[in-house]
Amino acid sequence: MAVHLDLNGLLATAVGADGLAAEEVAELEPQLARVREELAARRAAGTLAFADLPHRREDVRRVLEAAAEARAQFDTLVVLGIGGSALGARALTTGLTGAGEPFRVVVADSIDPDAFAGLLSQLDVKRTVFNVISKSGETPETMSQFLVVREHLLRELGAVDYRRHILVTTDAHEGAMRQIVHDEGFRDLTIPAGVSGRFSVLSSVGLFPAAAAGVDVEELIAGAVHMDARSRAAESAMADPSLVLGGVLWLLGARRQKSIVVTMPYTERLVATVDWFCQLWAESLGKEVDRGGKPVEWGQTPIRAVGTADQHSQLQLWVEGPRDKVVLFLRVEDHGTTADIPAAYQDLESVGYLGGRELGELLNAEQRATELALAKRGRPSLTLGLPAVNAFTLGQVLYLLEWATLAAAELLGVDAFGQPGVEEGKRLAYGLMGRGGFETRREEVEAWLARKNPQFIL
Ligand code: PA5
Repeated sequence: MAVHLDLNGLLATAVGADGLAAEEVAELEPQLARVREELAARRAAGTLAFADLPHRREDVRRVLEAAAEARAQFDTLVVLGIGGSALGARALTTGLTGAGEPFRVVVADSIDPDAFAGLLSQLDVKRTVFNVISKSGETPETMSQFLVVREHLLRELGAVDYRRHILVTTDAHEGAMRQIVHDEGFRDLTIPAGVSGRFSVLSSVGLFPAAAAGVDVEELIAGAVHMDARSRAAESAMADPSLVLGGVLWLLGARRQKSIVVTMPYTERLVATVDWFCQLWAESLGKEVDRGGKPVEWGQTPIRAVGTADQHSQLQLWVEGPRDKVVLFLRVEDHGTTADIPAAYQDLESVGYLGGRELGELLNAEQRATELALAKRGRPSLTLGLPAVNAFTLGQVLYLLEWATLAAAELLGVDAFGQPGVEEGKRLAYGLMGRGGFETRREEVEAWLARKNPQFIL
């Protein structure tokens, strides 16, 4: 049940000048060997905390215990979180739970008042537990969701019982949420030090909602451990799919101006995983300066597409539009469910040929066809293949994509873990919402609004 990476669609021999020549791929080897060494040294020094998450057995035990308790007492879990504190949970729960699962997990990462009030009004709060997830413990979206939910629970369940309905996942020591846990006595799970949001899917952040949803967390972790072992045992950096994926995407960006990475799963189960990956790739690599402060202003825009729907929406642009994209297909051999296409209208060739085939067969045929259609027009692609979507293969995929992102960050020389570009927006929003200490930000926004020329508002 190992996943594999197929690079054939991005080679110059397949797509011509927009692909990578054999010599360029070979030139990647010493660079990836250096990256491998540097990352191994950083891991040994304890500064890649995410990498060891699958080996933290005690954390997994705590998560499973908390999830078993939640399943015994409730039938719905609502995750309150955003960004890296939501997308991993959604990837796991939507990717790995089937229609028959009796315990419902909802990931609420929106503060749209209509959507959020709508969600609350549908819930039977007596049967619901809310998992507030925030590493910093102060993200305004999550904190305001928490405040709304807390008030709702107090009203519905009273000052004693409401506590049982909140479980907080946050930093072990820092942040307002940690203080609140301490003061209110909420149950909690911790996020290990040094694990930032978008690299936290294999911590309690992703694992608790997944376990509550009935996902086989041990298998998921086993998948990540398998990928870790495979990478470490690889004879060379070029035999490690994680490093190679990061390397070739970076190279296509740097040498072939592929500034857009389209990730296209041919299975609905991996759509949320692609959303998770888009955040990982965008926030980790899109940086103004490298670690030494030198301007780089680099990044590849990640786009999520879905096979086959986007063949009928975006593919035209990829085949004939600007040559700025590389497509990463996610292909699944066995879709688990089979849906036969009945034979009918045999006298109509354009419909009749489908009879006796199967929907998964059509889905996979369309993936191959799209790969070749792109190649024939000189557009590079690569394919991450999964024998099936299950906890073991998804564990491999998540871990592989985390390391691929880190490898690309190393090649660029940027810090994968910070996101300084989103901080200013947060500060301006704090100012507008009246947070103490951010008054000048409010004035700045007001000045910005005052400068707007009504002539250009139509
Ligand atoms: O990847 C990240 O670090 C961010 O997307 C965070 O996860 C997001 O901003 C939410 O932060 P927090 O968990 O502190 O509430």
